[in-house]
Amino acid sequence: MINKKVFDAMNEQIKNELESAYIYLSMVGYFHSQNLDGMAHWMRVQVHEETIHAMKFFDHLISRGASVTLLNLKQIKTKWKNPMEPWQDAYAHEQFITAKIHALLKIARKENDYTAEPLLAWFVNEQIEEENNTDKVCRQLEMVGDSKEGLFMLDRELGTRVYPAGSCFDPAAYNLVQ
Ligand code: FEO
Repeated sequence: MINKKVFDAMNEQIKNELESAYIYLSMVGYFHSQNLDGMAHWMRVQVHEETIHAMKFFDHLISRGASVTLLNLKQIKTKWKNPMEPWQDAYAHEQFITAKIHALLKIARKENDYTAEPLLAWFVNEQIEEENNTDKVCRQLEMVGDSKEGLFMLDRELGTRVYPAGSCFDPAAYNLVQ
């Protein structure tokens, strides 16, 4: 049995995490359109991570006997002016998600929901990495400035991010890679 306030906040967080996946998938499309396939690859791995985040909340609610009620996803951005802008958006979005996780923890503590704390503690830590990853790319792009070579090198580096084993977001999983 789960407290109604905690349930509502976690149920909404499933939407926030799926929306994150949707936002980053939109960026995958943008980066491919700009021939920045490394950045597109990095974001594909991120789509995997966000889907897992949603499922962690989904399964937590299921395991506590609650009935998940999926909410509508909002229309998301599909166009950016330059390669920096999606990364700035991603960093801002991760800060938004961090605030949501902190608010959720506050609700859980107020409602004495000790069962939720280990899951929420995992997310509090995860958000450090989530913010840092996207902020770091913003700062690296600032360093690169107008250098095409620098952008190319950074794109190559971001393309080395590794998919978690068995990820269905890895094109190799659906035979698009030769
Ligand atoms: Fe699920 Fe990027 O926060």
